[in-house]
Amino acid sequence: MKLPSYLDQTSAVKDRFDRIKSREVILEVKHLGKVYKTAKDETIALQDINFKTHRREFVCVIGPSGCGKSTLVRILAGLESHTSGEVLLDGNPVTGPGKDRGMVFQGYTLFPWLTVINNVMFGLEMNGMSNSEAEREAGLWLDLVGLAKFANSYPHELSGGMKQRVAIARALVNQPRILLMDEPFGALDAQTRAKMQSHLLDIWRNIDITIVFITHDLDEAIYLADRILVLKAHPGEVQELIEVPVPRPRNAEQFNGPEFMATKAHLESLIHPPEPEVDEQEKQVKPNMIRFVNVADNVE
Ligand SMILES: Nc1ncnc2c1ncn2[C@@H]1O[C@H](COP(=O)(O)OP(=O)(O)OP(=O)(O)O)[C@@H](O)[C@H]1O
Ligand SMILES: [Mg+2]
Repeated sequence: MKLPSYLDQTSAVKDRFDRIKSREVILEVKHLGKVYKTAKDETIALQDINFKTHRREFVCVIGPSGCGKSTLVRILAGLESHTSGEVLLDGNPVTGPGKDRGMVFQGYTLFPWLTVINNVMFGLEMNGMSNSEAEREAGLWLDLVGLAKFANSYPHELSGGMKQRVAIARALVNQPRILLMDEPFGALDAQTRAKMQSHLLDIWRNIDITIVFITHDLDEAIYLADRILVLKAHPGEVQELIEVPVPRPRNAEQFNGPEFMATKAHLESLIHPPEPEVDEQEKQVKPNMIRFVNVADNVE
């Protein structure tokens, strides 16, 4: 089958991108750089990163290990400082953590000694909301992630997927402007992961939230994203910002569709470029490089 180009868009997809681009900019990353300095050397984790995210847009970030994905999302969250450029949220520079950003990480980060509902209420009460109001708010969000029945369970009583649903409820309960997710489904088995992906799309469709989602998984990025920011490593730089041509609403059948496959083939060529040709003669192990051990001699 001859694949179309990943740049080809149906008129419905093109119209959708036009609508997205006409919305206000929530997040703007300008000439962002991060250098980690240690006593011995320095690592350029990010260099001259530029992109904008519009309201209710879903942006995925992919790239090889070590290209600075976690560093980027931690800077957006205000958990890490940057060394050059700036990050603007609703036009205001990000200088530290804030309620306007929710975070979900790969590792399970719930407080084990608190029940599910108390985990979700925690941030609200810290911000001064009364206990009864926080309980009501948290209950609504637990309902949205489908866990109302487990409000009084403890985290150890939940599966990995359920724990991440609670983490999503906890991140959304403060009604942030943007949800930052760093490989949130990376530790889940394939089936649970697929369910969580469609669950996240359902949540996103129903509320006013902009999402920046880090992943290693190309299928996950194409399934979820409006646009995909592809980073390359050493130094971490933007390789391309791709508009995903797969129509919405998304479903699992689209994985074998031409738009999906064309996008995946392109991403693969960016992330895993073909290896340079190696001289076959060079590749072969020369017999005189191996010192055969006489098994009998090798008995200790
Ligand atoms: N605290 C730190 N001090 C020094 N160097 C760091 C620190 N954190 C990250 N780095 C370096 O910065 C680069 C980017 O790391 P980062 O964790 O952001 O990559 P990543 O894309 O999230 O990788 P992965 O896909 O493995 O999660 C790497 O070279 C890493 O070694
Ligand atoms: Mg990482």
